[in-house]
Amino acid sequence: MAEIIIVPSKAEAGALVADEIVRLIRATPDAVLGLATGSTPVPVYEALRSRLEGVDVSRVRGFALDEYVGIDPAHPESYRSVITREVVEPLGLTPELIHTPNGALEGIEHAGEDYEEAILAAGGIDLQILGIGTSGHIGFNEPGSSFASHTRVKTLIEQTRKDNSIYFDSIDDVPMHCITQGLGTILRARHLVLLAFGEGKAAAVAGAVEGPVTASLPGSAIQLHPHATVVVDEAAASQLASADYYRYALANKPAWQGI
Ligand code: PGA
Repeated sequence: MAEIIIVPSKAEAGALVADEIVRLIRATPDAVLGLATGSTPVPVYEALRSRLEGVDVSRVRGFALDEYVGIDPAHPESYRSVITREVVEPLGLTPELIHTPNGALEGIEHAGEDYEEAILAAGGIDLQILGIGTSGHIGFNEPGSSFASHTRVKTLIEQTRKDNSIYFDSIDDVPMHCITQGLGTILRARHLVLLAFGEGKAAAVAGAVEGPVTASLPGSAIQLHPHATVVVDEAAASQLASADYYRYALANKPAWQGI
C-alpha cells in the first residue's frame, strides 16, 4: 500500500516533498519531474525555492499532468502559464525542458500520443506530484477513467469546472475539455507523491487509500503502484480508518528508508 504521512501543516508537507525532490535532483541532475497544477502543490514549489539555491537544476526535465483544450497558452490560467509562473521561473528551470500537453485545437487528435512519446523518449517520469480532486480525480482523470488510459482529451465534469472557476471570471470561462495524462501514464512514473489538504479532500483521500480500487474513484489507482506516498494534513486525513496505524508505522520507520 501507499505510505501515508500525516503532517500538521501544508508547509511541513511542502518541506517533506521538496526535500525528496532535492535528493532526487542531486542524485540525478537530469531527473524527470511530473508537475501538478492547482493549489495543492504550491507549498512544494515554495519550499523548493530556498532548497534549490546552489543546486544545478539546468538539466531537470518536467512534464505537466494536464492542460485545458482550446485555451490560449498565453492565458494566465493555461497550465503552461501556471507552470511557467509557479515552477519554471521561481526555480530557475530550463523552459525548453519543461513540457505541457499541447491543448491547441489544431492537431489535438494526436496531441495525446505525441505527449506519451515525449515522456517515453525522456525515459519516463521519476517523481510524479499529484493532487486529488473532490471527485477523486487525479490529473483530469474523472470518475470512470480507465486505469490503462494514456494522455488523451477528456470532458471536465461540472464539479471540476465549478472547483476551477475560482481561477476564472465565471464558470462559463472554464474550458469544457482538457488533455490529461491517463491513469496508465501516471502509474508508469517511478514514484507517486499525492498531496491533499483540508476537509473537502477527506472523502477522496479515504477512498483513494482505503477504498476499493475502482475507476469510480481514479485516485484509488495509487493502490496499484509499488511506490506511492500520500502526504496529507489532519483535516484531509480525518476520514482515514487506519490513521493511527499510519502514524505508528511512520514513527517506527527505519531511518535509512526515505519516502
Ligand atoms: P486543487 O486541485 O489542488 O486545486 O485542490 C487538485 C486537483 O483537482 O487535482
